[in-house]
This record gives sequence, C-alpha cells and structure tokens, in this order.
Amino acid sequence: MALIALHGTSAGVARTAAPPPRDALVQLGEALFNDDTLSRPRGQSCASCHAREAGWSSPDSVANEHAGVVQGAVAGRYVNRRPPTIGYAEFMPAGPPVFLTSRAAYAGGFFYDGRAATLADQISGPIRNPNEMNNTPAGVVRAVADGPNVARFRKAFGVEVSSLAVDEAFQDIVAAIASFERTATFSPFSSRYDAYVAGKLSLTAAELAGLQLFTGSRTGRPGGPAVKTATCSSCHTVEPAAAGRRDVFTSGTFHNIGIPKNPANPYYAQTDAAANPEGCNPLGAAYIDYGLGSVLYLQKSCPPGNAGNGSDGRGDFLRINGTFKTPTLRNVDTRPAPDFVKCYGHNGYFKSPREMVHFYNTRNLTTSPGEVINFTARQPYAHLQGKPLWPPPENPDPQTLVNPTGARGLIGNLGLTAADEANLVAFLQTLGDAPPASTSR
Ligand code: HEC
Ligand code: HEC
Repeated sequence: MALIALHGTSAGVARTAAPPPRDALVQLGEALFNDDTLSRPRGQSCASCHAREAGWSSPDSVANEHAGVVQGAVAGRYVNRRPPTIGYAEFMPAGPPVFLTSRAAYAGGFFYDGRAATLADQISGPIRNPNEMNNTPAGVVRAVADGPNVARFRKAFGVEVSSLAVDEAFQDIVAAIASFERTATFSPFSSRYDAYVAGKLSLTAAELAGLQLFTGSRTGRPGGPAVKTATCSSCHTVEPAAAGRRDVFTSGTFHNIGIPKNPANPYYAQTDAAANPEGCNPLGAAYIDYGLGSVLYLQKSCPPGNAGNGSDGRGDFLRINGTFKTPTLRNVDTRPAPDFVKCYGHNGYFKSPREMVHFYNTRNLTTSPGEVINFTARQPYAHLQGKPLWPPPENPDPQTLVNPTGARGLIGNLGLTAADEANLVAFLQTLGDAPPASTSR
C-alpha cells in the first residue's frame, strides 16, 4: 500500500490521495521489467538478465557456460557477479544486514552483498550500473516518456510521466517494478515439492532420499528422527512442521562457502579506466570479491575487505570477508532446454547443481585418501600429501570459511556417496515451478 512513498518522501501525495490501482501498477511494472528502452544504449531490460524460463537468472547459455557473468548494455562491459535468481525475492529479509547472534551470521538485504535494503532500493542498482543498464534516473524517465509504456503509466498513476519531476517519476517507475516483483509470477509455489508438501503427489524414492539428506530428518522437516545429513537446510531453510510458513530455502544469512575464483570472469580484464571510469576494475586479476566485506567496511571508512591501502590494520575484524547471501534454491535447475547451461555461485564458477553438490561434499579433500585440508590453519595448503580436489577459495579466510576440520556433517567433507549426491540433485530438481498457464499471474 505504501508503495509510492517507499523512500519516505511525499511522492504521489499531491496528485492522488488513494494508492494506485494494484492491477494497473503491476501491469506497468511487468511492462517496464521487459522494456529494453530503459538501458543506455537501448537493448537491455531486467528480463535480459533475469528470465523466468531460466529460473529468473541469465537466459544466455553461452555466457553462463564460458564467462559465468553477463555483458551489460554497453558492449564489452561485464558485471563482476552473475545474475542470481530473483524468484521469491519478496521473501528475503530486508536490509541493512544485521548480525544475528542466534545464527552467528549476518542476515538481510538484497544483492549478494546485502547493499540494498529493499527491493525498490535494489532497482536503481542495475539501472545506474555502468556495467549493466548504464542509465540515470533522468534518462529512464525520458525513456518511459518516449517509450511504449506512457499509457500504462498514466493508467497506474493518473498523471503523465512527463509532467512529473524526475525524482518523483523515477520513484513511481521503481515502485511499479517492485510491485511486479512481489506478485505470484515470481513466487508461485507451484513446484513438485509444493505439491508434495500439500499431499497432492509423492516424491520418487531418490527425491525423498535427497530431501532427507538435505534436512537430516526422516520426515524432511527439522525436528524429525535424525538420519544421515548434508546439513543443507541449516542455511537453505526448510521450516519446522509447526511453523506454518512456506519454505523459501534461504535464511537470508551470509556465509563463505569457499567458492574458487572464476578465472574466466571478463571483469578481471576490465582495467581500462578511460573507457569505463566508474565500472572498471583497477585491480585486474588481483581483484577479490569480499562479498559482505565489500559493503560493511565502507560504512566504517575502511576499504573493501579492510585490506590493502587505507585499511586500519585490523583486517577482517567483522568476520565477513568472502561471505555472500544464501540464495533460494527454488528454480535452481529450471532451464529452457535440456542442453541449456546455467551457472551457479556469485561468480558463475559452477555449471550444474551436480557440480555444486560434489563441491559441498569434497571441497576439503585431496587426492590422498583420507587427507582433509584444514582451513582453520593459517596455511591450509602447506605440507599436503595429495593434490587438492578443488582450487583454493576466492577468500581463503580461516575466520569465515565454514570448515569442519575433518569432522563430517559440515561443508567440505560431507561423506556422501555418489548415490547420495545424485539423490540430493534429484531433490533440488523438484524445486522448479510449473510454467505459468498463459493468462495466470
Ligand atoms: C546486465 C544484467 C542485469 C540486468 C540488466 C539486471 N540485473 Fe538484476 N542482477 C544482476 C546481477 C549481476 C545481480 C547480482 C549483483 C550483486 O549481487 O552485486 C543482480 C541482482 C538482482 C536482485 C537481487 C536479488 C537478491 O536476492 O538479492 C534483484 C531483485 C534484481 N537483480 C532485479 C533486477 C531488476 C528489477 C532489473 C531491471 C531494473 C535488473 N535486475 C536488471 C544482473 C542484472
Ligand atoms: C553455511 C550455509 C550453507 C550451507 C550449509 C549450504 N549452503 Fe548452499 N549456499 C550458501 C551460500 C552463502 C551460497 C552462495 C555462495 C556464493 O555465491 O559465494 C550458496 C549457494 C548454493 C547453490 C548455488 C545457487 C545459485 O543460484 O547460485 C546451491 C545449488 C546450493 N547452495 C546448494 C546447497 C546444498 C545442496 C547444500 C547441502 C549439501 C548447501 N547448499 C549447503 C550457503 C549454504
């Protein structure tokens, strides 16, 4: 209801006392989400990077397979991270990220690093980002005024977009897109898992075994009789039976799961400050994505990660470097065609859920049977007998890397068999929503 006053201003109050009609607002939001005149140059819309048929992630199979990240509206410019799914985003806890003692982790906010507090705040990010839509609020308002959605704007807000001040019009545009993101189009709860929870179908034996591993519970809900566990639901939340909440498969908490650098990320080569003053990467191949650490240290007047030039010498005192927001796993394997490649993790390093599950199972292992890399040691790779099965984490930070030091039951050494891994993947595949009926919303 308070959609048009999201930023705490009086926008909209002067012209309409009543909130805009919701249907008209959502229709405008949907049209703007798909409107590729909003980028500079034209040609890129939100849907260019977040497409339903690809589980609300990148619909570009080639980019997913090779670069992992996507090209922005300006040819040759790349974002440092991959487009995450934006399904079920309305259920993400709002920011700014706060430390939850109960979880021993930060939670809240949008983007992989929590830097936007609300869905509406998030939207100006891609619009302004020189490596994404590369526009300004004034440019977007002009594009809407000159574009295909003038009448939809009038219907939603009762005024001509061209008659409004830029700030006001931009807030309305953002509010419309955010209202579309809060519809059942993005959160239909129509997967086979949902039908199973509603008692309408049975999972296959493999899917059920995967759910049991995922939660460590025979019932597939926390609190049931304990069974062999892969501990997934401790971050990708499955609600307790009594909670009565629907499962969104994320706690919104930030963790470092030890994903390696993605050497194919073109952002590493994007060093030319003259060509791309705001979106370049002066560090080149030495760039480290600190995740939450690239946001919270700035608020303390420290550089990203509190590392390098200008750091206050205390290093990662908040224990946040390399922590990224836990994504939902809904639609994780949704793809437009069987041979379409998706990628996973904040930098697109992984190319399939199967590969990710194998990583969770074996990240800490080497080719020497029984050897476990101890990531809490200062030099985890010193004196190893075997060759590590995976490249080192992008943030090999002993403070924040979730590390079992050899014990089973936590990330990196789960003790899963090949059949267990396959069962987990089968379960993840139950989380894809049904394609929409043509008229439903
Ligand atoms: C060029 C590709 C690109 C375009 C265009 C784009 N996005 Fe994104 N989107 C991304 C990337 C990459 C991220 C993650 C960035 C990060 O975490 O720093 C992201 C993150 C998000 C998130 C955060 C999800 C979460 O759970 O935190 C939302 C919501 C979102 N985008 C919505 C939109 C909307 C709405 C538009 C259109 C106004 C849009 N995006 C346009 C690439 C894109
Ligand atoms: C300690 C918390 C934690 C646990 C436990 C955990 N995850 Fe994750 N998961 C994360 C975080 C954080 C990310 C994002 C990491 C990044 O991008 O750097 C993630 C990412 C993923 C992704 C990639 C999704 C995408 O869209 O990119 C998959 C798939 C996944 N997890 C599945 C699992 C499975 C299966 C398990 C159990 C074997 C599991 N996770 C256990 C926190 C966790």
